Amino acid sequence: MSLFETVAIALWAMLPAYVPNNAAVLAGGGRPIDAGRTWRGKRVLGDGKTWRGTAVGILAGTALAVALNAVEPAASTALGVELPTFPLVAGLALAAGAMTGDIAASFLKRRTGRERGAAFPGLDQLDFVVFALLFAFLAAPAWATEVFTLSALAVVVVVTPLLHVVTNAIAYALGLKDEPW
Ligand code: CTP
Ligand code: MG
Repeated sequence: MSLFETVAIALWAMLPAYVPNNAAVLAGGGRPIDAGRTWRGKRVLGDGKTWRGTAVGILAGTALAVALNAVEPAASTALGVELPTFPLVAGLALAAGAMTGDIAASFLKRRTGRERGAAFPGLDQLDFVVFALLFAFLAAPAWATEVFTLSALAVVVVVTPLLHVVTNAIAYALGLKDEPW
């Protein structure tokens, strides 16, 4: 398989995991998941993790997987690459995993004394990838094993932080996000 094919398949397969965080930024607000509770003097998660943001993020990622299935034949023809389609459970797992990873990262940030919005380089860029892949491998093992080959995983780990930095910088420049990370 060519490098182009590997990159195209890896990024296509990760799209349902890329969208939830951005959808949550647009939809955020309302009741925080931790309801203001603290643990050892710090918020459990903080005001940046809300029920609404999480629900909209998971829905957006899952809906995107369904939409990608609809355009897959055209996209595959256009790119000359046999792109994968998403079983519903795989799309849901990628989206829910991405949101879970982001929430787990906030939990770790609060435990390490970082206030809401503080950067945690490395964690910020890869938290959601690790959990999205974990959820996908658990929920749809046969599908995930076929799509996420070792080389596809390598592409994901290298390209995702770059995409994350660029999209967050754009969201910050547009005034959608409070910090550029
Ligand atoms: N958001 C949300 N629910 C989530 C994730 C994100 O409502 N599960 C919204 C919040 O409005 C949040 C914004 O998206 O402020 C940006 O997300 P993120 O950068 O993950 O949160 P931070 O506010 O930076 O908080 P943290 O330090 O905990 O990451
Ligand atoms: Mg943040």
